[in-house]
Amino acid sequence: MNLDKLKTTDGLDLAGKRVLVRADLNVPAKNGVVTDATRLARVVPGLKDLANRGARVIVLSHFGRPKDGPDKENSLAPVAAELGKLAGLPVSLAPDCVGEAADKAVSSLGNGGIIVLENTRFHKGEEKNDPEFAGALAALGDLFVNDAFSAAHRAHASTEGLARLLPAYAGPLMMEEINALRTALEQPKRPVAAVVGGAKVSTKIPVLTNLSAKVDKLIIGGGMANTFLLAGGVEIGKSLAEPDLVETAREIMHAAKSRSCEIVLPQDVVVAARFEAGAPSRTVATIDVPKDEMILDVGPKTVAHYVDVLSRCETLLWNGPLGAFEIAPFGEGTFALARAAAERTKRGTLVSVAGGGDTVAALNAAGVTDDFTYVSSAGGAFLEWLEGRELPGVIALAR
Ligand code: 3PG
Ligand code: MG
Repeated sequence: MNLDKLKTTDGLDLAGKRVLVRADLNVPAKNGVVTDATRLARVVPGLKDLANRGARVIVLSHFGRPKDGPDKENSLAPVAAELGKLAGLPVSLAPDCVGEAADKAVSSLGNGGIIVLENTRFHKGEEKNDPEFAGALAALGDLFVNDAFSAAHRAHASTEGLARLLPAYAGPLMMEEINALRTALEQPKRPVAAVVGGAKVSTKIPVLTNLSAKVDKLIIGGGMANTFLLAGGVEIGKSLAEPDLVETAREIMHAAKSRSCEIVLPQDVVVAARFEAGAPSRTVATIDVPKDEMILDVGPKTVAHYVDVLSRCETLLWNGPLGAFEIAPFGEGTFALARAAAERTKRGTLVSVAGGGDTVAALNAAGVTDDFTYVSSAGGAFLEWLEGRELPGVIALAR
């Protein structure tokens, strides 16, 4: 895949053109109310740009994981309304993404207008990447813009199939996301540090393996650090860990060493007897974790060490929290490192790129999201990129 082949619509005359835009409107919602509109806000500038250039903007997206055709719970209706509010433009919803209803909505759409078509996953052909369904979508547009990096790991009709059928372009958010990842992984300013946290090694084996070949410092935190501590012969009491992956952890450590990538592990940790908000907790050296307590965060010495490692790096890639940040006080380690990274980024001495659902929630809680160089809107797609995989939605655009 040659990413330099990605084309944007810059310079094209789009007046009167029907532009099918794949966006990722898959936002958190509860009882028909959008609870986090971040992804919508990220896609609005691209949509408004197309509208301002006189295009007829037809937005496609999935929403949730409907099993069996249309259902109210997975309707994009509240999302389209929220999108309209953010854009400051009327945005209506067509009741279906193909067929007569879609045709009618598209034909009545004027230049500079924006409509959202109902959830693509209401049709079985979407996830099957069925060529006939992709053809029905393609019939609605003159060209295709994929601005849904966060859904590009899915080879679905609206993310992959469509790009084969219409002139296909990468949208501005797609470009931004890819450029941020390339800056951090392909030609980064070195040394590069990666922070990888989260609960389990098992979900991040390919990430750890790929990153250990690309970065200079691999800082490990969260529950997965416990498995690495176990691999080093440290007793971790009742802490969450995956003892059957101790061998895998050792292999990752060996591989890292042979590539001169330093794996950085906690030296002290915050322990408690129970995983509960406000549970009495204290800091101990990792070698002193009591048998009947569990590790819930990294300790201050560890944070100081991580900050020191980071202070000698030029680039940071971050995925996954260092502790159980959702529950006070076990977010302190994550927040402290996030603040240090944000400070250096603001001073212009660090390029910091972060992504993944939990990571973004942790950065938000630390109040530093805006200070990072780039925070991805993607979860699964960001992870797959870190695994070194090529995303089908991106491949289709780079063809
Ligand atoms: C996401 O929210 O990660 C993307 O929109 C993809 O959704 P999916 O995991 O349901 O395919
Ligand atoms: Mg998901």
